[in-house]
Amino acid sequence: MDNADKQDYDKMNWLYNAFYGDMDTEQVQRLEFIEKHKNLLQSYTDKEVTILDSACGNGVQATALALNGYKVTATDISKEMVKLANEFSKKHNVSISTYVKGWVELPSLFQRRFDIVFNVGNSIVHSQNEVERKNNISSMVQVLKDKGTLVIETRNWEKIVAENKRFTVYDKISYLNKEYIPMYHWKLNGIEQEAEVEILFQEIWEDNHVELYKNSLSFTPFTHISLVDTMKTLGLNIIKDTFDKDCDWYMIYGKKA
Ligand SMILES: C[S@@+](CC[C@H](N)C(=O)[O-])C[C@H]1O[C@@H](n2cnc3c(N)ncnc32)[C@H](O)[C@@H]1O
Repeated sequence: MDNADKQDYDKMNWLYNAFYGDMDTEQVQRLEFIEKHKNLLQSYTDKEVTILDSACGNGVQATALALNGYKVTATDISKEMVKLANEFSKKHNVSISTYVKGWVELPSLFQRRFDIVFNVGNSIVHSQNEVERKNNISSMVQVLKDKGTLVIETRNWEKIVAENKRFTVYDKISYLNKEYIPMYHWKLNGIEQEAEVEILFQEIWEDNHVELYKNSLSFTPFTHISLVDTMKTLGLNIIKDTFDKDCDWYMIYGKKA
């Protein structure tokens, strides 16, 4: 991700507030993410499990982990996202350690430190090409302890590219007495080709006035097999892979030998 992308996420607090601002602490604690990874989290039982959320965004997953008693470090390349993560964890009365760091900077900060590294919510796609993606994942592997697990969750780019999807429409959401209609406008150019998504939120006020919030992000779609190959090449054993060609999302667990 280059600096331009970093700036893009630095301007996205409206999206995270609309999606997560109204959640109460119990809802965050019961986030689906926790149930999804319950078995993995419970598999490290011999000592206190150390966890890194390497693309923490507004901190919703890191805060959910902390609310479930886990010790969490949360990093993100975007200063604004890390600020939101600090505010979100504070609002829900838990503490997480946060750093503004890109993936390639992680090994200079933490050597073989974590049992689990999460890279979730479709983050790794913000690598410009296959080489950069491999370097980014390599950095995450370097901060794993032996027998540690890297979790990558991504959209199914093959499906999205094959459908040549142009729009994704989401259900209406509410936050602070306003309603939001989110829409993603995809500008795809094929697998391993740089692409763009324009994120549009129509904000509807109580008097029906409409404001538009928008931002563009760049990303580079990749295939499932290339992700699996990269993870294997970096010494990970694939212990879980939920890929299904007809599903929009999948996640892969790679365990360090
Ligand atoms: C789609 S968001 C996902 C955030 C969060 N995990 C979620 O599910 O809501 C992707 C995040 O990855 C971060 N990111 C992108 N490139 C990065 C990089 N090279 N190093 C660290 N973080 C990066 C962005 O700043 C952004 O917060």
